[in-house]
Amino acid sequence: MNDCGLRIADCGFEKKISAFNPQSAIRNQKRREHNEMSLIDPHGGKLVDRESRGSDREALLRASGKLPRLTINARAEADLELIANGALSPLDGFMGQADYLSVRDDRRLANGLVWTIPVTLAATEQERARLHAGDDVALRSHDGRLLAVLHLSEIFKYDKQLEAERVYSTTEEEHPGVRALYSQGDYLLGGQISLIESPNRQEFAPYRYSPRELRALFAERGWLRIVAFQTRNPVHRAHEYIQKCALETVDGLLLHPLVGETKADDIPASVRLRAYEVIIEHYYPLSRTQLSVLPAAMRYAGPREAIFHAIIRQNYGCSHFIVGRDHAGVGNYYGTYDAQRIFGDFAPGDLSITPMFFDNTFFCRRCDGMASLKTCPHDPDYHVSLSGTKVREMLARGEVPPAEFTRPEVAAVLIDAMAA
Ligand code: ADX
Repeated sequence: MNDCGLRIADCGFEKKISAFNPQSAIRNQKRREHNEMSLIDPHGGKLVDRESRGSDREALLRASGKLPRLTINARAEADLELIANGALSPLDGFMGQADYLSVRDDRRLANGLVWTIPVTLAATEQERARLHAGDDVALRSHDGRLLAVLHLSEIFKYDKQLEAERVYSTTEEEHPGVRALYSQGDYLLGGQISLIESPNRQEFAPYRYSPRELRALFAERGWLRIVAFQTRNPVHRAHEYIQKCALETVDGLLLHPLVGETKADDIPASVRLRAYEVIIEHYYPLSRTQLSVLPAAMRYAGPREAIFHAIIRQNYGCSHFIVGRDHAGVGNYYGTYDAQRIFGDFAPGDLSITPMFFDNTFFCRRCDGMASLKTCPHDPDYHVSLSGTKVREMLARGEVPPAEFTRPEVAAVLIDAMAA
């Protein structure tokens, strides 16, 4: 929120309230509908909706007391919300075995659509023993809230090592995605879901737009070509540069920080969001920028996750997606540009969203601006490049990183957060 009490990103979008004119209201409505139809189609052609409402919801609620129950973790909660609101279209539930194996081995759903990350619900031996294929299962949060009903269609065992090798390209437990995989139950539960209550509706509520809401908002603003930016780190000058380079060629910019589970040493989502609020306020064109959160868990699966991230943004209505250096990477598990190269493995019709690739960018003191090795002819001594660890150490000491690396307004937010 800013001074005007609105989401900052909404402030540049002023609605003039004048005398009601039915003809212009109809024209505007038609324009919005036309714009919305002109946006990119969701992956697979149709936006999934698994949120139960009205009498269906009442019936599920009444029946739920007698259903077997399963308590799910934060990752599964995140997936549940994204399946229900269509962000993971065409998935309408947790994957069954045919999809799981096909995604793991061939990077496609069983029906041939590109899909690179398994979206599964794990259960332990004890949990599985109480469940049967064909059951409806009440999915509950750790504090006992009924979130959804899983229409359980199959229970199957899976090979964690093989999933680690294929999806994460490593079987090492130090990899945070692999660690999460190894620590979950040995069975997977497949089946459609019906959402009853959105797991974390209140968290970042002003920025929590569903794919339908963002599509409507893009249509209202007349944006047809929208570039999305995925991020799990505090915004810095390289981020800002590639976002703005991309925005030069399209109608609007969706800043879409991921706010689901991340590894312990990543900066908390609330701080990252505050950093975005201040940088937008000072440096971004409000009429062309939209801030919204992606309530997904981070997998750190590098190239495969880049495809996954792109498909999700397509479902939110974006036509373009930024992939920079080591997208969704961690440690040295992936090559700097592997997450760009993977797009070349697919045929032109396989993915509708257009990736926008960026080389490693930095501030060059000789160019006196942001650049990459593509655009800067100067000696690397002129380049301001800092590692994430180095920046964290500086911030922890209360030191402001160079303005060439972080905007001072953002540095102030990060230093405050470190001191708290
Ligand atoms: S990520 O895990 O979400 O990829 P991060 O928030 O750091 O991490 O990156 C967000 C996006 O910015 C990714 O597409 C990443 O490749 C890109 N990126 C980050 N830093 C740079 C940089 N210095 N140069 C070019 N691209 C970058």
